[in-house]
Formats: sequence, C-alpha cells, structure tokens
Amino acid sequence: MALPNINPTTTDSWKRLQEHFKTVKDVHMKDLFAQDKERANKFTIKWDDFYVDFSKNRITEETFNYLLELADAVKLKDAIKSQFSGEVINQTEGRAVLHTALRAPKDSECHVDVVNVIPEVYQVKQKIEGFTNEVVNGDRKGFTGKAFTDVVNIGIGGSDLGPAMVVDALQYYKNHLTTHFVSNVDGDHVNEVIKKLNPETTLFVVVSKTFTTQETLSNANTLKDWFLKSASEDAIAKHFVAVSTNIQSVKSFGIDENNIFPMWDWVGGRFSLWSAVGLTISLAVGYTNFESLLHGANKMDDHFKNEDFKTNIPVVLALISIWYNNFFKAESEAVIPYSQYLNQFATYLQQGIMESNGKSVDRNGDSIDYETGTLIWGEPGTNSQHAFFQLIHQGTKLIPADFIGFTKSLHGNQDHQDKLISNFLAQTEALLNGKTEDEVLSEFKNPLGEESQKLLPFKVFKGNKPTNTIFINKLSPESLGKLIAMYEHKIFVQGIIWNIFSYDQFGVELGKQLASKILKEFNNSTISNHDSSTTNLLNYYKDLV
Ligand code: F6P
Repeated sequence: MALPNINPTTTDSWKRLQEHFKTVKDVHMKDLFAQDKERANKFTIKWDDFYVDFSKNRITEETFNYLLELADAVKLKDAIKSQFSGEVINQTEGRAVLHTALRAPKDSECHVDVVNVIPEVYQVKQKIEGFTNEVVNGDRKGFTGKAFTDVVNIGIGGSDLGPAMVVDALQYYKNHLTTHFVSNVDGDHVNEVIKKLNPETTLFVVVSKTFTTQETLSNANTLKDWFLKSASEDAIAKHFVAVSTNIQSVKSFGIDENNIFPMWDWVGGRFSLWSAVGLTISLAVGYTNFESLLHGANKMDDHFKNEDFKTNIPVVLALISIWYNNFFKAESEAVIPYSQYLNQFATYLQQGIMESNGKSVDRNGDSIDYETGTLIWGEPGTNSQHAFFQLIHQGTKLIPADFIGFTKSLHGNQDHQDKLISNFLAQTEALLNGKTEDEVLSEFKNPLGEESQKLLPFKVFKGNKPTNTIFINKLSPESLGKLIAMYEHKIFVQGIIWNIFSYDQFGVELGKQLASKILKEFNNSTISNHDSSTTNLLNYYKDLV
C-alpha cells in the first residue's frame, strides 16, 4: 500500500487552522497561563523517564484539537502502520523504511517483501557483539600482536554524524579505546587524525552504505596507504573492517570478507546508527550499552506506534512545529540541550531533519506551494545563552526552541547541576514572559528620569517566544536512544503531513556530479562551459596550484 497522498492545505482542518490562526497569532502566552491555572498540566506529557511540557507554546486547546484533526485528516495512523510493517514507503527509491526493525525485539517479526528481516538483524548484532568484545577485551590483536587502543571511524553524513554524536554523548560510559572520526575530504582532517595514531594498535572502521562516497573512499585509501608504510598487505585483514551494503566494492578495496558488517537498503543513511553503522559506538561504550541505546529507541517506537496522538510525544512535537512553520511562517527551530555531552546533537539532527524534509515536490511530483522542512540549529546551554540567545529574546524572528535537560548530573556535582538547571528553567520562563515596561522601570532608581525613559525601549522583552521543555531523568544509553528516536518520528510525521517523500535525498546528487566533473578539469588544459563566475574561480585555482 502506498502512503496516503493528501495535500494538507486542502483539508478542512488546515482551513480551520488558518482561520483560527487569525485569532491566536497576537495572543500572549502570559494571558493564556493567567486564564487557565491547569494549562501546564494539560499540555504536559509524562512518559517513562520523559517529562515533556509543551504548554509554553502559542496554542490554545482549540489549536491543539485542530492540529490533532489535521493528523487524522492526512491519515497519519495508516502511514505509521505502513512504515512499521515494512511497506515500500520510500517510493521514489522503491524501498521500505525500517530503521525501527533494527531495534525491535528478537521475537518480533518485520517483513520486507515476504522475508522476516529480524533474524538477519540479530545475526549482524551477534557479529557486532562478538567483534566488540574481542576488541575491547584485547583478544583481537593488531599485526604486531598488540591489543587495539584506537578506533578510527571513516564515513560521512549518516555514516559519521550518528556514531560521532552518540560516542560524544555517551563519553561518560566510554571504555579505554580512543575513538576518532574522519569524514571531510579536506586532507587536513585525516592528517590531523593520523598524527595521533600508531598503526600497530589502530583499528579502522570504514562505514559507507554505498561504498561509492568520494570522501569516505579517499580517506579510507589515504589511511590504508599510511598504514601500509608500516605493515604488509595481509595485515589489512587485522586492522580494517567495513560496514556496507556493497560487499563487492568492499572486497575490491581489500577488506577481508569476514570483516564486513552488512546493512540493508531499507535503512536510510541518516537513520542507520542502530545498524552496524553504530559499530564504533559499540566499540566505544561496549555492546551492552549499544543494546541499551537500541532498547530505548524501541521503547519510543512502541510509544509512537501505540499512544493516542494527544499524548504521543513525537506527534505532538511535530504538530506544534507545523503550526509555527506553516502558520506563523517561522523559518527555523532551535534545539538547545542543557548538557555539554549533547554538543553535537543539533548537527546530527540537521541531516535527519533537513535531508529528509527539505523537499519542494509533493507525492504526486507536483510543486508545493506551502512551506516544508524547517531549518534546524542549536548549541548546548548555557554556552548558547552567551552567543545567540539575544536574537531569540529580542530579535525580530520567531524561533521556536526545544530545551532538553536532564534532572541528574552524571558526575553528581550538584552545585553545577543546580546552576545549570536554574538556567534551563529561567530561559524558557524569560522567553515566555519577557519583561514589561513596568518591570524595567522598577529596576531604575529614578523611573521617571530622562535616562530611564531613554533606555526603556531597549530593555523591554516582549516575550511570547515558544519553547518545548523536554526534561529527562538522566543521560544514559537508553534515554539517548529514546531521544533520538523521538526526533526520527517527528521527522516522519512532518513528512506525512507535508505530503512529501522524506527518505530520498536526490538534492545532494547534483553537487557531487559537478564536483567530479570539475575535478577532472583541474588536469585538463581546456575547461568546459561553466557560468563565468565558476570559470573564473576554476582558473584562479588552477593558476595557483
Ligand atoms: O549526502 C548524501 C548521503 O547519501 C547521505 O544520505 C549519506 O548518509 C551519506 O551521503 C553517506 O553515504 P554512504 O554511507 O553511502 O557513504
């Protein structure tokens, strides 16, 4: 069964939302809180160790009901069923979308065509577990008989961002192995990493779903050449492993067949950290923690699949985001984790959100005349408070933000934790309430004086800036799994509502094709017809190198 194909703007719910928007757009959230003492309770979802408060949004109960109606109008329930049951919902590439199968329990079933893929998934997991244990315990040795000390993940996009973000996020749980990530084709990246490596004790994990990606193959070859300066060809089998669907090309690269961890075309690159793409995660934090990460994601999958939309965290977050994107015309959303461990979280989400939903053609192939994918950005608090928060508080743009915090600190330094969480709470309160003229004036010794009056407009904060607060008990592999899966499902819901295909990424192809054409021209005396700007730049570079 294909995905439903409904232009959201033609639904009655959309039209109701448009009318309703006119009555809500200027309402201040402060007044909504004053009018309803139960507002926070009404708009809070408590699930497992998640406390999600979405009351600080420019919505009323009516708004929320219309948004829920919109989810029904676009047949979101059917779409969720289609995804989880392995239907070919990535219709433009003719594939199922089953990253959820990677974290499903062993006794579950999930069919692609007629084959239950769960046994294969568990075979690969077993291989990840065995390999991880051998490396971590030091039973697997390098070519001079020494145990591995360093792991280099070579990949880009989904083959880099997920593992890199998770390893960083879970560094509290890390073992003795030092992990490195090489992604950029910029040779300075790989060379800086090489400076830290000893060939005798380094394991290379080449991750590429297609095994055709220029950056990854270039980096893998550079590292192989560097390695072969100290070791013989047959040592490659001890030091290089690969994760890919393209077994033939991996073998041609010289990697031993036993060192290949397969993946499947029904796992999209940006949703693949749960597969063998997460091998570096497993190596870094141990297989048990990797399993917990998957288990957390599976819990969120169950919640998403079974929970009523009204209390379904990914659905609610997606609907609120649609409200701002399509009605308030907010262009971007910020994600602010109050945890330094989630330093790379926004960067990771950028691929998931923007590669998936950055589309301008609907499921009929027709151009869309409404807004789709949101721009996503962010940095951890409190650092970001001292960087871009000024613009969120007093700038002209509306920037809805997710605030993610953890009630417990991992190292238990309560003094810091209290300061961190007081900032976390204070910011959403400030964004909600702002600061009135009276409040500003009350801070002056002489409120009616010339100086106070002059400064008054600059010190007033309008407030009414929307935030979601996602408060989680503790950063653990399991809670991180839930958090990532929460955003994955949010992406899915938005793609369904916008009536787009979220699982292809044709937009990144053109640049890749042109780059390989230009690369050849660096060695040609003549260059083909480019626009005059590109021609000038190309010649400028050629003349200098
Ligand atoms: O940038 C496009 C893309 O195809 C991403 O979707 C993917 O995650 C990345 O390149 C890497 O691809 P691969 O794993 O095949 O090397």
